[in-house]
Amino acid sequence: MLLDAIAGWFSHDLAIDLGTANTLVYSKGKGLVCSEPSVVAVMEEKQGRGQKVLAVGHEAKEMLGRTPGSIEAIRPIKDGVIADFEITEAMLRYFIHRAHNRRTLARPRIVICVPPCITSVEKRAVRESALSAGAREVFLIEEPMAAAIGAGLDVTAPTGNMVVDIGGGTTDVAVISLSGIVTSRSIRTGGDKMDEAIINYTKRKYNMLIGERTAEQVKMTIGTASTDSKTTTMEIKGRDLVAGIPKVVVTTSEEVREALVEPIHAIVETVHLTLEKTPPELAADIVDRGIMLVGGGSLLRDLDHLLRQETKLPILRSEDPYTAVVHGAGRALDNISLLREVALA
Ligand SMILES: Nc1ncnc2c1ncn2[C@@H]1O[C@H](COP(=O)(O)OP(=O)(O)OP(=O)(O)O)[C@@H](O)[C@H]1O
Ligand SMILES: [Mg+2]
Repeated sequence: MLLDAIAGWFSHDLAIDLGTANTLVYSKGKGLVCSEPSVVAVMEEKQGRGQKVLAVGHEAKEMLGRTPGSIEAIRPIKDGVIADFEITEAMLRYFIHRAHNRRTLARPRIVICVPPCITSVEKRAVRESALSAGAREVFLIEEPMAAAIGAGLDVTAPTGNMVVDIGGGTTDVAVISLSGIVTSRSIRTGGDKMDEAIINYTKRKYNMLIGERTAEQVKMTIGTASTDSKTTTMEIKGRDLVAGIPKVVVTTSEEVREALVEPIHAIVETVHLTLEKTPPELAADIVDRGIMLVGGGSLLRDLDHLLRQETKLPILRSEDPYTAVVHGAGRALDNISLLREVALA
C-alpha cells in the first residue's frame, strides 16, 4: 500500500484510449500527451525471424497503401477489438514510453478504455499487453462510460444518460445511470465502413478505384448525412478500372450522402433499438437531457441534424468528440474513488 503510494509519486499515471483509428494518451498532471493513428509499420525479417517495427502512429499511417512488398502497415485493432496482439503490444509500449519519457523509475498505473462488448479473454489480453508494456497496475473502463465522463455527464447520479460513440471501427450506444451501463449496443459500423461505402460507390458509379485515405478525405471534406445539407463538390483521384490509368472525377456531397446511406442507417437503427430497450424512467430522463454524441465519426456533417429528425430528441455533440473518451478516463485517473466505481472488475 505504502510502496504503491510512493510509486504513484514518481510515475506519471496514464489513461489510454486504444481506438481502431486513433490512440490517445493522457498523462496525470500533464493532460493529453499523445494523439496518433493506431497504425504500426513492420518489416518481415529474413529467414522467418519475425517482424521488426519500423514506425508507429502518423509516420506509419503515411505508409498505408504505399508500402513495398517487404513492409506492411498494420492497423492492429479492427472493429474495436484487438486483432493482432503482438503488434498492439508493440504499439502500447511505444506510446507508453513516449508519454512516460523514461525519465521516471516507477512504472505507471494505467487506465485503458475498452469496448463494452469485450469478452473476458480479450480483457485479459489487454491487461497482459499493458503489464508487459510496463504498467504497474491496470484498470479497464468501458468506452461509453469514459466518453460520458469526458463529455461532462454526471455518471454517478441516478439519472439516465445516453451516449453514442461513433468511432473508426464501431458505434457504441449506451445508457448510463448510477455509475453503470444499463443497456448498450455495439455495431461494427463506424468511420471505416463509411470509407468503404465511398470506395464501393466510386467503383460502381465511376469505374474508378480510390484508396482508403482518399475515401476518408472525401468523407471529411464533403460527406454529409442529410439531404438538407448544402451541395458541395470535390475532385477525387484514383485509378480507372477499365483503362488502368490514373484519373480524376468531380464528386458531389449528394453522391457521398447516397454512398453513406447504409452505414448511416445502421447507426440510426442502433440508436432506435437501444432506446426501445431502455427502462421507462431512464427513457424519460433522455427525453429531457438528450443524446450525447462523441467520437470522430460524429463529426460527419449534419449527422446530428438527421438524428434529431429521426428520434425527435435533443442531440448534443460533445465539445471535443475526438478526446472525450481519453479525457473521461483521465478524469477517473485523477479521482481514484470514481475510478474504482466505474472500472471493470
Ligand atoms: N469531419 C469528419 N467527418 C466524418 N468523419 C470523421 C471526421 N473526422 C474524423 N472522422 C472519422 O472519425 C473516425 C475516428 O474516430 P475516433 O478517433 O473517435 O475513432 P476510434 O476511437 O479510434 O475508433 P473506435 O472507437 O471504433 O475504436 C475515423 O473513421 C475518421 O475518418
Ligand atoms: Mg473510440
